[in-house]
Amino acid sequence: MSTIVKSELLAIIGGSGLNRLPILEGAHRQFVRTPYGEPSCPMTLGTICGQPMVFLARHGYGHTIQPDHINYRANIYALHSLGVTGIVAVGSVGSIHPSLSPGDLVIPDQMIDYTWGRASTFYGSEPGVSMHIDFTHPFSEGIRNKLLGVADLLGFNIHEGGVYACTQGPRLETAAEIRRLAGDGADVVGMTGMPEAVLARELNIPYAQLNVVANYAAGIGESVHGIEFSALGPVLETAMCKVRLMVETLVGCKVPE
Ligand code: HPA
Repeated sequence: MSTIVKSELLAIIGGSGLNRLPILEGAHRQFVRTPYGEPSCPMTLGTICGQPMVFLARHGYGHTIQPDHINYRANIYALHSLGVTGIVAVGSVGSIHPSLSPGDLVIPDQMIDYTWGRASTFYGSEPGVSMHIDFTHPFSEGIRNKLLGVADLLGFNIHEGGVYACTQGPRLETAAEIRRLAGDGADVVGMTGMPEAVLARELNIPYAQLNVVANYAAGIGESVHGIEFSALGPVLETAMCKVRLMVETLVGCKVPE
């Protein structure tokens, strides 16, 4: 299994359930200014087993920023300006596919964007500059394979592949919306994957998602009558312990027994 090499600078973007990365040693916060405004929070810089890393809490350290209010451009630009060479984006999702249950980990390989009104490109503000980047495969195969290797090494049962649908939020979906997403081929649903992924691609930063299934999506299984989002904490907490272990292993210092 290949881990992170010394010259790489990996960033973890944490979502719901992962506002901090306590395993970072010598952690300090750095404000980064960007031409696109303020990132969600100061970047946390530190090391894991001597390997420098960056952590960014997507919703802010106090989880105060809703998915539709996140300044995705400032976040990605800030990571770029720190010289980040790869991003693992951690997020919580709802399960649409019958094989996915709360607490499961998923590394999707495709996505569908249902968001609207978000600033979703670094291009287009200058007249005459238009850019159509390739986004056929939205996630970095290199980072996906590293994550899959790590999960294998740790003996974690992880779902390889799948289609991530990004909805606008902050409300959860209706049962009919989830049926539509299922018909479109979506396996999981979240609210923050876009435009985060495409902005990373525009700045040539390899990006992959590591998703934690928090709940069955609206109208499915236990969620047939509704979703009590505030009750999802314990599931997320247990799964995020696995995510932290994966990050440690990814940087190459944690050797599983
Ligand atoms: N829908 C959208 N985003 C989510 C969900 C969901 O059911 N669960 C966690 N994030």
